[in-house]
Amino acid sequence: MGITKVTVLGAGSMGNGIVQVSAQAGYEVTMIDVNGDALAKGMANIQKMLDGGVKRDKITASDRDAAMGRITTATDFSQASRADLVIEAVPEDLELKKELFKQLDQICPTHTILATNTSSLPITSIAAVTSRPAQVMGMHFMNPVPLMKGVEIIKGRMTSPQTMETGKKFIESINKVWVEAVDYAGFIASRVLDVMLNEAVWCVMDGNKPEEIDKAMKICTNFPMGPLELIDMAGADVLLNVMEIMEKEFGDKYRPAPLLRQMVRAGHVGRKAGRGFYDYSGK
Ligand SMILES: NC(=O)c1ccc[n+]([C@@H]2O[C@H](COP(=O)([O-])OP(=O)(O)OC[C@H]3O[C@@H](n4cnc5c(N)ncnc54)[C@H](O)[C@@H]3O)[C@@H](O)[C@H]2O)c1
Repeated sequence: MGITKVTVLGAGSMGNGIVQVSAQAGYEVTMIDVNGDALAKGMANIQKMLDGGVKRDKITASDRDAAMGRITTATDFSQASRADLVIEAVPEDLELKKELFKQLDQICPTHTILATNTSSLPITSIAAVTSRPAQVMGMHFMNPVPLMKGVEIIKGRMTSPQTMETGKKFIESINKVWVEAVDYAGFIASRVLDVMLNEAVWCVMDGNKPEEIDKAMKICTNFPMGPLELIDMAGADVLLNVMEIMEKEFGDKYRPAPLLRQMVRAGHVGRKAGRGFYDYSGK
């Protein structure tokens, strides 16, 4: 069965981006969040992004209005009952996600595919609480969703080939490119990237200046941004959380640098806190 109706759970940074790109591609989208203010903020962000697109001549005003017209919002979970595809983007908490997937399994029609945007949690554990584990998959969008081309799609142990095919077609239909990963912590992108980010923190502990580390990686290896700038953008707390999950799965090579832990304890988690490896207090 084809996908025409998409429900996104969670209106935060990732959720509203997924809603935007799905609506732009012509899907009818319902954005559900427990928090009405988060829904209003999510809608305002989508409007701002689309207005920006019109200003830069990337989309027409009528395409913007048509995309906005395809989005509805709800705080009530029962609105997921018409979805062909649900993409969950609530906080990274395994117990919360399992609870929501149990509810979705009850509410959604039997054909509905349930996808999670988790960055690091096992798809297989989330799938196992449902009666349809063959129809549960990972869809790991990158931040910011409207700008980032790649999406990791993850096959849980029980995910069927048909579900993966439908997931791939959906990603292509929203003008993104899928990358297929197996279901181990961190999938591919975070697993490879985060070990390098953590190593950059060890380099700071060894006495290197943050700006020299970032300069080295940009000038000498052509990274578009330095690893410490990237940690400040994503949040040291977010990196620490994923490193701890990967350390449990793969062992010592993912042990978080002690400085990373110390910065999180101090609340110096990056841009959102005004301070990380760099000072953003004046910005
Ligand atoms: N932020 C990133 O860079 C990034 C990148 C890739 C993947 N992810 C993953 O995407 C997911 C969402 O991350 P985010 O950064 O968008 O989080 P966020 O905190 O910005 O948004 C989460 C939203 O979920 C809502 N929510 C909480 N409980 C809910 C519930 N029971 N039902 C419905 N909505 C609920 C919150 O009100 C909030 O609006 C996480 O699993 C995260 O690991 C994040």
